[in-house]
Amino acid sequence: MIQKINTLEEYHEVYRKSVEQPENFWAEIAATFKWQKKWDRVLEWNFRDPDIKWFAGGRLNITENCLDRHLETKGDQVAILWEPNHPGGEAIQLTYNQLHTEVCRLSNALKSQGIAKGDRVCLYMPMVPELAIAVLACARIGAIHSVVFAGFSSRALADRINDADASMVLTADGAYRGPKTIDLKSIVDEALTDCPGVLNVWVLKRTGSAVDMVAGRDTWWHDALEGVPAIYAAETMDAEDNLFVLYTSGSTGKPKGVMHTTGGYMVYAEYSFRNVFQYNEGDIYWCTADIGWITGHTYIVYGPLLAGATTLMFEGIPTYPDAGRFWEVTDKHQVNLFYTAPTAIRALQAKSPDFVARHNLSSLKVLGSVGEPINEEAWEWYHEQIGKKKCPIVDTWWQTETGGIMISPLAGITPLKPGFATLPLPGIQPMLVDHDGNEMKGNGVEGNLCIRFPWPSMIRSTWGDHERCRKTYFETFDNAYFTGDGCRRDAEGYYRITGRVDDVINVSGHRFGTAEIENAINEHPQVVESAVVGYPHEIKGQGIYAYVICTGLPADQQEVRAGIRATVNAFIGPIAKPDKVQFVKGLPKTRSGKIMRRVLRKIAEGGSSELGDVSTLLDPEVVEEIKEGAV
Ligand code: PRX
Repeated sequence: MIQKINTLEEYHEVYRKSVEQPENFWAEIAATFKWQKKWDRVLEWNFRDPDIKWFAGGRLNITENCLDRHLETKGDQVAILWEPNHPGGEAIQLTYNQLHTEVCRLSNALKSQGIAKGDRVCLYMPMVPELAIAVLACARIGAIHSVVFAGFSSRALADRINDADASMVLTADGAYRGPKTIDLKSIVDEALTDCPGVLNVWVLKRTGSAVDMVAGRDTWWHDALEGVPAIYAAETMDAEDNLFVLYTSGSTGKPKGVMHTTGGYMVYAEYSFRNVFQYNEGDIYWCTADIGWITGHTYIVYGPLLAGATTLMFEGIPTYPDAGRFWEVTDKHQVNLFYTAPTAIRALQAKSPDFVARHNLSSLKVLGSVGEPINEEAWEWYHEQIGKKKCPIVDTWWQTETGGIMISPLAGITPLKPGFATLPLPGIQPMLVDHDGNEMKGNGVEGNLCIRFPWPSMIRSTWGDHERCRKTYFETFDNAYFTGDGCRRDAEGYYRITGRVDDVINVSGHRFGTAEIENAINEHPQVVESAVVGYPHEIKGQGIYAYVICTGLPADQQEVRAGIRATVNAFIGPIAKPDKVQFVKGLPKTRSGKIMRRVLRKIAEGGSSELGDVSTLLDPEVVEEIKEGAV
């Protein structure tokens, strides 16, 4: 079993070893897992191509580590504890034995459908146990899962299905999200009109919504599982075989499929889970993310199950039936470790304190935060009102590309500082770099956050386009992985993430490229051109501000604004709808035609008096007009 770090002194010692002898360090941790064949080499790498191999030659299946190896000692322990959307609904408990059986059954069913090792299977599902089961079944047969968050639109789904060339989609008739029912199957049907490669769709019955089943393509989930055997010998995978693809947004063009492989991801998922949350046997752990995001992959499914923990999966939203739901569920299931996003904390903080006061919350031991910088006010509220000043808060910084938590306190071990992700995990070597690529050594500096040495769960490639991976992450700075984040290292050596330094905005913890939203806006028939920037938003962290040029100033601005929001909704999904739309006659462009986003950001922030030097603009007057019309 992986040994946890217990004291700050030990952390520093372990950290030193992890930097001085990274291969020995990770080999010792990897040795605690079940391998069908031991690796030949711990690490081979270069950041030039990039080419990164951890535990090459090793053979394993991650689900044997998530499930089979626990059966003897904790077969009857609850693995997945599921809380439904409707508060009166019955919670489901799946023990490790039961989860193993369900995963094996689905594995057999997928295999008999012809899904083979390396095939891509798209999962577009509600937060129900079958989603976790499907993730694990794909991994068990060696298929590459591509989970698409069920809040994305049919277009966004179709793009992701086609990019990964998925041959099968697993979905449900519908999804409950608070008071709403979303007809997932009809969204899938619409997407599939553009996806000729999809041969099979399995549909889980969840809401009972009416669905059209396409003969020869669509099968009910329960029919597919009918009479299927409950034992499936896990496929043998190479440590560097692909485990999953997960789409995320960057500063340019379409979302890209971040690739993660099997062995290294597994090792880092359990190591980081145990250490950051200081997981103890028997703890009930709840991460409120959706499995459609990396947080759900690593810290709802893989990390906790690898550690043999009980992981709570919640189908609903924090404000249904009221803003006390998280706390009601915490008490109901006696949750010990709780992991959520700053946007949820701020949204709940804004409601009446009664929603918290009604609940006891004494089971809580550790609180976590992820996805965006947590402001001090939200941190203090979380600490005082939810943690009753006795629970450490782990502010965990990481990314889809990093696969696991990179910079974070270890709960109860690392002294906390609100707003700071504090110190790197063992094995993680952060480096701050100035614009010219020079390393900024010492403390009390701020720059671009890079990682100078590989870690086991790092991105290996972007699906179908390795060059894109190289350009995005390994080209900007020599011999380093570039995160896209700005960061400050304070006098004590503590890290504080200051936000993205590229054209990515973080809305309620969700990442969007400004270009991606602009492309969607430009699909509106009256739009000629647009520019999108982020601005500070009280609840969402960042809001979306769109400057839009139309074919003539719209007569009914309200209507066109609504039309633009609907277009973004159709092309990406409701989470990407602009909060503010300002109609403009022109955009501030330099002589080379580049939009000066710095100016647009300042105006969106309400700081139009300090725009800085605009003398290089082609038409500086445009700025005055935009300032006057700011919304
Ligand atoms: O800007 C950072 C921010 O979220 C980005 C990664 O987004 P995504 O790949 O969707 O993964 C989110 C969940 C891991 C980062 O580049 N971010 C994430 N966590 C934090 C954060 N910013 C500040 N503090 C954090 N704890």
